[in-house]
Amino acid sequence: MHCDLFGEYDKLLRVRVLGHDIDVPEKNSLLRGFQFAAPATISYGQFCWNGTCNNCTVTVREASGGDAKRQACRLDVHDGIEVTAVAPEIKRNLLGDTMYSEACGISRSLQSSIK
Ligand code: FES
Repeated sequence: MHCDLFGEYDKLLRVRVLGHDIDVPEKNSLLRGFQFAAPATISYGQFCWNGTCNNCTVTVREASGGDAKRQACRLDVHDGIEVTAVAPEIKRNLLGDTMYSEACGISRSLQSSIK
């Protein structure tokens, strides 16, 4: 995995995913944020990264209180995003990541936080 994937960023943004907070780099798509949090699995998931496969579909709680389906590869992260549902491919990959990524200084295991 290459940390260059995330480009230049100054801070991490907190997003809520299935009831758990994760920190993801600003100026990235939500799917790239998932990759930051779970590099060992999201990187090898069945994702097109260009809006055609729908394997990255998430349900996001809008500011209005309603829910909307979005493609995580095309949704820019912003502080306070709340994801209430994820496509099976995302869930499988988030839950499957038990790796520790020293290269990027990521020291979390989502397996323990998202169940
Ligand atoms: S990864 Fe294929 S639509 Fe987002």
